[in-house]
Amino acid sequence: AGTGKFFVGGNWKCNGTKDSIKQLVSDLNSATLEPDVDVVVGPPFVYIDQVKSSLSDRIEIAAQNSWIGKGGAFTGEISAEQLKDIGCKWVILGHSERRHVIGENDEFIGKKAAYALGQNLGVIACIGELLEEREAGKTFDVCFKQLKAYADAVSSWDNIVIAYEPVWAIGTGKVASPEQAQEVHVAVRDWLAKNVSPEVASKTRIIYGGSVNAGNSAELAKKEDIDGFLVGGASLKGSDFATIINSVT
Ligand code: G3P
Repeated sequence: AGTGKFFVGGNWKCNGTKDSIKQLVSDLNSATLEPDVDVVVGPPFVYIDQVKSSLSDRIEIAAQNSWIGKGGAFTGEISAEQLKDIGCKWVILGHSERRHVIGENDEFIGKKAAYALGQNLGVIACIGELLEEREAGKTFDVCFKQLKAYADAVSSWDNIVIAYEPVWAIGTGKVASPEQAQEVHVAVRDWLAKNVSPEVASKTRIIYGGSVNAGNSAELAKKEDIDGFLVGGASLKGSDFATIINSVT
């Protein structure tokens, strides 16, 4: 950790029921959290209101997706305005599951980010390479191309947190080593310095995601350019998520 306030997001993905979420919220409300950490959770859309009305204000709420523009005749979509209206502060965009399972492309994601920022949502902008891309030595190329799509679309980086999530590490139990994550985070920061500005590079938090758990977060958090985490599976257990939040150094 080295840039800005440590940032830990919990991406609940398509998990939970009213009952399980009630329990998770209660566990989070009673957890002791380091004060100097931004903490955000991303429930499924249908539970955002439940979470908003029961979770301590200490923790902010993210949506897991938003529509590319103003609402209207877009069946099944949720607009950034609606997310604001129900109290979301953040939206996760460009997650690998949306890129590789749903089929969203770089340009579409960049435009979504720009629209959400324009509605005053913070954006957790995800990037990351597939295993075959890493093995072909294309990790930086892929990440830079994804970053460029955000950079081409947005006019300010003030409300963006970049989440580096190597796809091979997501939900696999194969966490990137602290060195592997640090190497990409440094490359991302250099890219920002050269292609956006040195100020943005030095201010933007770059968080890591992919099989982060209560047992490996402290080692990762020691790395200079790992400014927090985006946590999937381990964010569904209040005590593990609290341990990860408290691994700030
Ligand atoms: O967005 C968080 C994520 O994709 C990582 O998931 O389950 O590997 O922590 P997980």
